[in-house]
Amino acid sequence: MLQVNNLSKVFRSEGGSVTAVDDISFSVDDGEFASIVGTSGSGKSTLLALLGALDSPTNGDIIIDDRTITGLRDRQLVDYRRKTIGFVFQNYNLVPNLSAVENVMLPMEYAHVPASERRKRAKKLLEQVGITDEKLQRKPGRLSGGEQQRVSIARALANKPKLILADEPTGNLDSENGTMIFDLLHKLARSEHTTILVVTHDLDIAGRTDRTFKLKDGKLQKK
Ligand SMILES: Nc1ncnc2c1ncn2[C@@H]1O[C@H](COP(=O)(O)OP(=O)(O)OP(=O)(O)O)[C@@H](O)[C@H]1O
Ligand SMILES: [Mg+2]
Repeated sequence: MLQVNNLSKVFRSEGGSVTAVDDISFSVDDGEFASIVGTSGSGKSTLLALLGALDSPTNGDIIIDDRTITGLRDRQLVDYRRKTIGFVFQNYNLVPNLSAVENVMLPMEYAHVPASERRKRAKKLLEQVGITDEKLQRKPGRLSGGEQQRVSIARALANKPKLILADEPTGNLDSENGTMIFDLLHKLARSEHTTILVVTHDLDIAGRTDRTFKLKDGKLQKK
């Protein structure tokens, strides 16, 4: 599903250069739920940003379903992000002045899904992640952290992505809510057959995924 070949990212500045991702190669199968662990600064977020085409690599290739992402032009990259990838962030990144249901509808709007269908699908996704009817119209500020993360998972699923990239999705939650969000991702990986890559500090959580990649100083550790 996903293949990464000799991927590197070097950040250059006046003070010198940092190799945040250093010649990484791996592949992930369709429907696999994999975790990425490593100490702070080991390159986890940089790797995820490269996979989501939020940043471009210094070297190497990313291939998804036989399509090489690296080297695509801007418009094609936007298209790739919208249709193929769903993002989940530690701080939820919901739009504060939109309701829960509107937040989930937003990516579908960008993907030109008809309005009536958008609302229907958004409600169904929110139901799947356990957001009850009376909370659909609430803005993020009136939802708990765990609820906001549920909404952001529903949003990530809006355009039926092939790949979900989650950077510390449980990082701001207590362990009970963190486990719930994790189990939810797991369940969705199964039911929607979505490939999921999750960055986590929590080794308990990592131990429950299909496979764990360990990063150290931008390099993939051999196990
Ligand atoms: N835009 C940037 N410009 C310069 N250096 C950067 C940039 N982004 C990241 N880095 C550096 O690249 C390295 C990897 O950073 P990254 O954010 O990927 O780490 P991380 O594993 O996600 O850490 P954390 O667990 O703290 O989130 C670090 O040394 C960081 O300082
Ligand atoms: Mg990070």
